[in-house]
Amino acid sequence: MRTPLIIANWKLHKTIRESLAFVNKFISIIGKVYNRDIVLCPPFTAIYQVGKELSGTTVKLGAQNLFYEEKGAYTGEVSAEMLKEAGCSYVIIGHSERRKYFLETDKIINAKIKKAESYGLIPIICIGEKAEEKDSGKTREVVGRQMKEALRDFTSTQLEKFVLAYEPIWAIGTGKVETPEQTNEVIGYLRNLLSSLYGYSVASKVRFLYGGSVKPENSTSLLSQKEVDGLLVGGASLEPDSFASICKV
Ligand code: PGA
Repeated sequence: MRTPLIIANWKLHKTIRESLAFVNKFISIIGKVYNRDIVLCPPFTAIYQVGKELSGTTVKLGAQNLFYEEKGAYTGEVSAEMLKEAGCSYVIIGHSERRKYFLETDKIINAKIKKAESYGLIPIICIGEKAEEKDSGKTREVVGRQMKEALRDFTSTQLEKFVLAYEPIWAIGTGKVETPEQTNEVIGYLRNLLSSLYGYSVASKVRFLYGGSVKPENSTSLLSQKEVDGLLVGGASLEPDSFASICKV
């Protein structure tokens, strides 16, 4: 059985003060949750303090990115070791906004996943098609390729703990959401592909999330799909009430 996983991706939002105010309110609403994993991914500046605030709760900490090098002259970058020490157990890698604005390629994303894995950070690997790719019937081809490239050189045992997030780019921050049935179809395709490449046992353990305009109103129908193991939530994760109601589904 795969434990459901709900992730808050705060992107470029929340100062330290705002982050701590969120955590206090959110924890008071949600209490301790044992039948699912909940992860908050604050911006780098707030990670350490959010982690301290979360200690003693069941909510886990994640980052939104990392760099693939160990250390050195890479101004502005943050390493896997730094994240681990700051209390992270998860890290989002390959978000479409990073692919678009920071020119991250499948190769860079693969290198970042390798670094995360070597430090025991669970990568949340984002894949998804553009609107024009969907319109021309290329969704499976695009997301299948992104998944294969992201997982290059890993063994089945390493993959078991990984998380894949299917996020159609046209659905991110737009209010347009993929239908639960279509989401289930695409993730089912990816799981079958994973099974053919690494075996059924691995494919049945890897958690697949949906992301893209998730709101309290659409989260129940998305999560009730057989293949959907969780949600990656952007905009609706910024308010404690709305994120808590998604977490409670
Ligand atoms: P959204 O973002 O929920 O605001 O669409 C999701 C994401 O980018 O992870």
